[in-house]
Amino acid sequence: MQIRFSDHSQLSQLSNFLLFATDQGFKGLSQELAQQSEVLQNAWQQGLLTGQSDEFSLLIEGNKQYLVCGIGKEEDFNAKQLDGLIKKMLANLSKRNLQQIAILMDDIKPAGQSKLCTAQRISTLLLESSYRYDTTLSKKNDSPKLQEIILLSSETSLSLAIETGVALAHGMNVAKELGNLPPNIATPVYLAKQAEQLSRACPEIKTRVLDMGDMARLGMNSFLSVAKGSVEPGRIIAMEYRGGNKDDRPYVILGKGITFDTGGISLKPGAGMDEMKYDMCGAASVLGLMHSLAELKPAINVIGVVAAAENMPAGNASKPGDVVTSMAGISIEILNTDAEGRLVLCDALTWAIKEYQPETIIDVATLTGACMMALGGVNSGLFSQDEGLAQDLLQAGLESRDPVWRLPLQDEYQDLLKSNFADIANIGGAKAGATTAACFLSRFTKGQRWAHLDIAGTAWVQGDAKGATGRPVPLLLQYLLNQIKH
Ligand code: BES
Ligand code: MN
Ligand code: ZN
Repeated sequence: MQIRFSDHSQLSQLSNFLLFATDQGFKGLSQELAQQSEVLQNAWQQGLLTGQSDEFSLLIEGNKQYLVCGIGKEEDFNAKQLDGLIKKMLANLSKRNLQQIAILMDDIKPAGQSKLCTAQRISTLLLESSYRYDTTLSKKNDSPKLQEIILLSSETSLSLAIETGVALAHGMNVAKELGNLPPNIATPVYLAKQAEQLSRACPEIKTRVLDMGDMARLGMNSFLSVAKGSVEPGRIIAMEYRGGNKDDRPYVILGKGITFDTGGISLKPGAGMDEMKYDMCGAASVLGLMHSLAELKPAINVIGVVAAAENMPAGNASKPGDVVTSMAGISIEILNTDAEGRLVLCDALTWAIKEYQPETIIDVATLTGACMMALGGVNSGLFSQDEGLAQDLLQAGLESRDPVWRLPLQDEYQDLLKSNFADIANIGGAKAGATTAACFLSRFTKGQRWAHLDIAGTAWVQGDAKGATGRPVPLLLQYLLNQIKH
């Protein structure tokens, strides 16, 4: 499905329209259109159209078709309702035999939202909510009848917002697809191939891949302590997008890419273990983000890094009590092999900071069950000692409707990581599990502007609608784009 912007000069050439109506009637462009249409005017006068929320009506006049979507009282219409309305509208449209429809955008704006945000949101939702997984199904989804959606507005400034929304949806759908793929397909090597493919398709992106030998030479014994227990070799993948000035320090976004987390020797319980294929959703969101950047080509330098490994129990897997020395020289007592995310991330953080001297580094990880329990599926957990960065991420979360909630990261929690046999233990006990995981990572980011996002609760949904959400691609893209404007 294609989504494009058009100004209202094309109004007369189009024949299928979607109009929004409040309980007071039409506004703006919709009103202009309605004034030229007897059918629309009569329907309103006779009370066939009332503009109540969730009212969908189809009216036909000659070769023109009007689908009217009620939004109720204008002052009650909010961003959450817009989301629901767009999804219902798509479901309604998909049942009809329409190839093209023009949506009149000027007349719909939730309270407290800008026109630009609304335009971006609508274009993202239209594309993103039509994603369906079918890669490993023998019966493929029917290709949608609706081929083209034209978003019409008299304001040409909406054009860029729509392009942004479209690029974002493409990135989210990449992230969802990678997350949903089964773990026997989406291995660390597979992720590296996807990254290489992206750089072949997009000359602005250069991909580098570290294999197990490279990592051994760099002293990444913490990463290797996880990867060594699997027959699938681990990879560190760096996708370098340089759209900014040559001398501008890059933003590094690092994703946890555990392509399957059994827990290792500290084996997880069997029930629901399949969901641990989603333990690479941080990595998937980094790949999705790079796709969005490749499409939008914003003026900023961004390095997407993925730390990819499989966490398996094996004869040569790490054992509780093992001590390894990380690339940073910090020794780690592995008290629980299921706390593997931080073990791969710490070496990737050390490497990325040394290699790229980032302006800011943000890691994204399905890191702790504790964060999922605390915040559920609404907010991702945000940890940062940098006030400015934390505020920027909170703000970007609100703007992109991909919210984060800040959780504590004070020095007082660091004591929980004490070990008698190494500089630091890889777990902090039963309390404050999301914070102690962040504390562990903080040991490897000293002096660096850094934030950690725990997406354990937000990266996928469980139950009948089980599937990846594509989060936090919206948050990350919004954050990066905001950095350019400021
Ligand atoms: N990938 C898991 C975290 C996770 C669990 C995310 C369930 C989403 C749903 C992570 O590697 C892990 O196992 N964490 C442990 C840490 C513990 C051993 C300190 C956890 O959260 O139980
Ligand atoms: Mn684990
Ligand atoms: Zn994990």
